[in-house]
Amino acid sequence: MTTRATVIGVGHYLPDRIVENHEFADGLDGVIDGTIKLDTSDDWIRSRSGIERRHFAAAGQTTSDLAVKACEAALADAGLVADDIDAIVLATSTADLTFPSAATMVQDKLGMTQGFAFDVQAVCAGFVYALTNANALIVSGQAKRVLVIGAETFSRIMDWTDRGTCVLFGDGAGALVLEAQEGSGTNADRGILASDLNSDGRYRDILYVDGGTSTGQTGFLRMEGREVFRHAVEKLASTANTSLAKAEMTAEQIDWVVPHQANIRIIAGTAKKLGLPMDRVVTTVQDHGNTSAASIPLALSVGKARGQIKPGDVVVTEAIGGGLAWGSVLLRW
Ligand code: COA
Repeated sequence: MTTRATVIGVGHYLPDRIVENHEFADGLDGVIDGTIKLDTSDDWIRSRSGIERRHFAAAGQTTSDLAVKACEAALADAGLVADDIDAIVLATSTADLTFPSAATMVQDKLGMTQGFAFDVQAVCAGFVYALTNANALIVSGQAKRVLVIGAETFSRIMDWTDRGTCVLFGDGAGALVLEAQEGSGTNADRGILASDLNSDGRYRDILYVDGGTSTGQTGFLRMEGREVFRHAVEKLASTANTSLAKAEMTAEQIDWVVPHQANIRIIAGTAKKLGLPMDRVVTTVQDHGNTSAASIPLALSVGKARGQIKPGDVVVTEAIGGGLAWGSVLLRW
């Protein structure tokens, strides 16, 4: 018998405020003190990225607040309560404070009085890193049930004068409940079948936040969009193929690709490289923008709610982000 980390619940939360593309050009109030007004258009944003709208957290609403709501939905979906959980692994680059971890804040807000909680920081690849770590905790017997969360408030690290970045990102959270279940050890099992993680710090300057302990300020996101784009499709297809190979599976066996939702052109390019049609890809980028580590669990939750992802389906998630850091997780839902 082989222990498999199996998804038994999923949920998400999006803040109430929805901002349509045209609002950046028309004048956007209530996000910062004053009005955001950019030389941009709905057509530019939509045609370059596929994004039509995104959600922004309300003033005072933090990453852990969003995460808690996603966790409550995932726990309800699993038919569990917080004290049934042994560990919380939260992927984020926008934790409420430098420390303690946002995960411990979620632990407290859920009323969970036992177990352990920690954050994982691998930017937009954070959720595949978190899933891989949670899988290791379960397979090694250190935890039986793990809440794996991606939660972000990227609106707090935007330079609202930089039209090349601030129109692309949004806020949100998604969560999975993973449980140790016994499988046969073959790729017919439900649960996580394989994963692949990579990073290459030589590319740290093409996507970063220019703040932290070195500056004493939180800082703003800086990106060389074209350079990031250049790396994305090849690395994403390559990591997905590596996970498939580890599980002795092929792309034809994939029911759903659930990619990081940064840009529809990257999503479509990766699907093409994998030889898969777009009707096997869950896309939410049009409605959420890039929510960094939250984008994959959001897409998994929305994909399930739409009736796309069903029990037994083979799902591959893949993501790339600052670092560069990238990776994939192959699982049977
Ligand atoms: N509205 C209108 N024009 C804009 C704009 C906006 N919001 N943002 C940039 N532009 C302009 C640029 O100033 C530039 O003008 P110029 O030619 O006069 O200098 C022009 O549009 C083209 O800019 P460029 O950055 O080359 O566009 P692009 O086709 O590469 O698209 C991205 C930009 C960011 C959409 C694209 O590079 C991308 O998606 N990259 C990947 C980013 C990503 O996914 N990052 C997250 C990974 S986790």
